[in-house]
Amino acid sequence: MSATPPRAPAAAPKDVEARQPAPTPVAFPPAALKDECEAILSRYPTRQAALIPILLLAQGHYDNWVSPEVEAGVAEYIGVSDSHVRGVLSFYSMFNLKPAGKHEVWVCRTLTCWLRGAAKLRDTALEKAQAERAGVVGEDGKFLVKNMECLGLCEVAPAVFVDGVAHTNVTNEKLVELMDACE
Ligand code: FES
Repeated sequence: MSATPPRAPAAAPKDVEARQPAPTPVAFPPAALKDECEAILSRYPTRQAALIPILLLAQGHYDNWVSPEVEAGVAEYIGVSDSHVRGVLSFYSMFNLKPAGKHEVWVCRTLTCWLRGAAKLRDTALEKAQAERAGVVGEDGKFLVKNMECLGLCEVAPAVFVDGVAHTNVTNEKLVELMDACE
């Protein structure tokens, strides 16, 4: 009678192998943001309701992007899970989850702007940014061009935001001028 072959050890589940170590949260808020964070919290009924403005503040402070460590620091400060913060960050296109360019150009790609020339504006912005596509920082790290959904300025389309400032009825020449003015 032949012996039963030894059983192979069970393989580790894939999700365990792929799991990243938990990021070490930054101490949030840093001293420079403390007063502003408290002022924001005082305007909302709950800490959780203040999450988006706090994240915007954090992104502005930490070189225009939210790293996993900043995400974890904000989560601790607000009192929610990291995954809750991650869900908000990945839902709203104004947040950057990777190092971003020094300047941001948002081009609206919704119907009214598109019919009024936004596709050409987006191509011009990408060319000036030396970026292969929207959402990818250009070669010199200066610009990040983003496709955005309706920016609420349809009656003065096409609309573009440069570093958070709205510009309306934007022509190709105007966009070049705006980007040239960014240092
Ligand atoms: S469609 Fe572009 S701002 Fe509304």
